[in-house]
Amino acid sequence: MNISIFGLGYVGCVSLGCLAKNGHYVIGVDTNPAKINQINSGKATIIEKEVDTIIAEQRSAGHISATDNVAEAISGSDISIIAVGTPSSEKGHLNLQFIFKVAENIGVALRNKSSFHIIAIRSTIMPGTCDKVAAEIEKISGKKRNVDFAIVDNPEFLREGTAVHDYYNPPLTLIGSDNPVAAEKVAELYRQLPAEIIITDLKTAEIMKYINNTYHALKISFGNEVGNICAELGIDSHKVMEIFCKDKQLNISPYYFKPGFAFGGSCLPKDLKGLQTLAHDLYVEVPLIESINRTNEIQIQRAIKLIFKYNNKRLGFLGLSFKAGTDDLRNSPTVSIIEALLGKGCNIGIYDKNINLAMLTGTNKDYIDSRIPHLSSLLVNDPVKLVHDCDIVVINTKEPEFRDLVHGIDDKLIIDFVRLDEALLTKNNYIGINW
Ligand SMILES: NC(=O)c1ccc[n+]([C@@H]2O[C@H](COP(=O)([O-])OP(=O)(O)OC[C@H]3O[C@@H](n4cnc5c(N)ncnc54)[C@H](O)[C@@H]3O)[C@@H](O)[C@H]2O)c1
Repeated sequence: MNISIFGLGYVGCVSLGCLAKNGHYVIGVDTNPAKINQINSGKATIIEKEVDTIIAEQRSAGHISATDNVAEAISGSDISIIAVGTPSSEKGHLNLQFIFKVAENIGVALRNKSSFHIIAIRSTIMPGTCDKVAAEIEKISGKKRNVDFAIVDNPEFLREGTAVHDYYNPPLTLIGSDNPVAAEKVAELYRQLPAEIIITDLKTAEIMKYINNTYHALKISFGNEVGNICAELGIDSHKVMEIFCKDKQLNISPYYFKPGFAFGGSCLPKDLKGLQTLAHDLYVEVPLIESINRTNEIQIQRAIKLIFKYNNKRLGFLGLSFKAGTDDLRNSPTVSIIEALLGKGCNIGIYDKNINLAMLTGTNKDYIDSRIPHLSSLLVNDPVKLVHDCDIVVINTKEPEFRDLVHGIDDKLIIDFVRLDEALLTKNNYIGINW
């Protein structure tokens, strides 16, 4: 394929060489004459393992060149990759001036192009940017999006220092698009790489890089806070994290990575508090670990606000314990929500087949007696009756028996805190806590 790459920095230079090595003809565009000269002299524009050799080989094979002539690059390519910088502004916002300058240049060049052109943004951009870039190109070129040109988001996941290795071994290839033909054409560039190609909508692709990098920063900071606590106790933190990483079921796994309700139960809140107190007693600052409770509290407040938007209604709660399949009410976020809503005068009914008040004992019973002493008057034995008698159904646990029941509800609002079932998302009377 004939490809043009806008921006010959880290991402652009590596893509230029690696795409050419995979059999494509690639023309690089940059505003910096020194970088153009370097490529045309067979030299890399960056210091990075293996890139020098690849650029030298591909230049002498005639597979790559560089220019500042946008019209030449656009007319000579079917796909343009944008890899210009997207730095932070002084106030922390994304500075998109380089992206929009390239959009403007491409828009002008497209005025004289009659064949379909694809623009793939490889730079890290905020959700909604592709739509803005497409609008800019439409305005300047007079061409129509998805008729004359298409735009896709194709975030780059390489790390400096191992960029060529990462290019050929990405964790995955991500393409965000509203145009299946363009998405497929961009996917073709990466078919020979040993990674899954995921094609999704534009905004999902655009936000992914921010989620990934924030999580990477979170991992490093979590490891450091654990390390600092361990060091004070004379425990080898590397041994601790090595064992931590061996648990592929709960620790290094998709488990717990489902946006939804706050955590609760008898263990997580207690042991989190324990570690926070241990760090405090050791005079070790752990702001990350300490902020976890606050995030959980915000999630409970979010749930209360969502329900309270529909004030003065009868509320039917499906599930009361902290998760499905248990009668443990200790630190159940649903108990906190119900307590708050009762305080605001809401009319509440609850169904939870696992809760049998007569069977509750020990700390579980003490907990609920102190929070909702008249719980028995709110419990309903029949879920169908509960649904029938309320205006809003609130799903709090992923109890399988709720699925059929909730699917049949069309005449009242369903508020879901646990993403009970994907199929519910198509219902008009359905709202998720954060989806
Ligand atoms: N560096 C990385 O490891 C890495 C990894 C993944 C993603 N990213 C993202 O990729 C993007 C590029 O990062 P980078 O580190 O390669 O940037 P960079 O600053 O090294 O390179 C950007 C290049 O774009 C050129 N440029 C600026 N305006 C131009 C224009 N109008 N036309 C053509 N060229 C223009 C600059 O001269 C420069 O050579 C950023 O959004 C970054 O966040 C970077």
